[in-house]
Amino acid sequence: MPGMTAPLHAPAVVHALAGRRLGHPVYLFQRIGSTNDEAKRLAVSGAPEGALVLAETQTAGRGRAGRTWLTPPGAALALSLVLRPNVTPRQAARLTMLAGVAVCEALEAVAGVRPALKWPNDILLGERKAGGILVESGLAGERLEYAVLGIGLNVSAAPPPEQVEFPATALEVESGRVVDRLTLLAAILDALAAHYDGLAEGTALQAAWQARLAWLGQTVVARTAAGEVTGLAEGVDADGALLVRLASGEQQRLLAADVRLRPSR
Ligand code: BTN
Repeated sequence: MPGMTAPLHAPAVVHALAGRRLGHPVYLFQRIGSTNDEAKRLAVSGAPEGALVLAETQTAGRGRAGRTWLTPPGAALALSLVLRPNVTPRQAARLTMLAGVAVCEALEAVAGVRPALKWPNDILLGERKAGGILVESGLAGERLEYAVLGIGLNVSAAPPPEQVEFPATALEVESGRVVDRLTLLAAILDALAAHYDGLAEGTALQAAWQARLAWLGQTVVARTAAGEVTGLAEGVDADGALLVRLASGEQQRLLAADVRLRPSR
């Protein structure tokens, strides 16, 4: 069937991830509500760092700000990883940077594409969204007890245009290559592991993230809870905030917003 990739089978997944720092134990579902919800349940019941939840399709996949995330059966990668990082709750946004950089590196290596990161959590191929990241944290008082790092990627097909807010695409459409999901998964986990120890320090991640930032140096419009902010996208800081230079000359640090490129006049 067009748009379908080879189905994921548990023994093949376990075999492909053997010997890796992240990706054990692995829980593979043909159909689940949300892999992030399942990973949170596992984390609360003591799952170790590296535990991985995968699903062929999600019936209640979630994106940022409560949006729906669609996972067409057999055409996507939907994964959630349990992590127990040594960062403060304030630094948890670094995990979104970690995932963004790792996914870009994996896509570059496996599919030969040049992805861009749309702040804060979108993976773009040719100005269209091919993936997204959703990090959710569990706190114990002032301490980050666990984080669930959720990644959704459209591999062979994207959801239909009428069902998405931002124009969507899929990896195979943009690369013109057939992509093996297990190879891609293993590459993502390797890239996550390679950058994981840099989380506490943060600046190497910041540089790698900023190098792939979509619309860097261009005028963007950010919709925040306090209203719209228009300015030049100057970069991101070590904690993942977007730095925008306003017409007044002041630099604003945005922690949460929906950003779009200002249409040319
Ligand atoms: C976004 O674009 O706002 C983020 C989308 C994140 C989707 C992934 S798919 C795997 C994991 N499970 C979920 O319910 N969401 C994330």
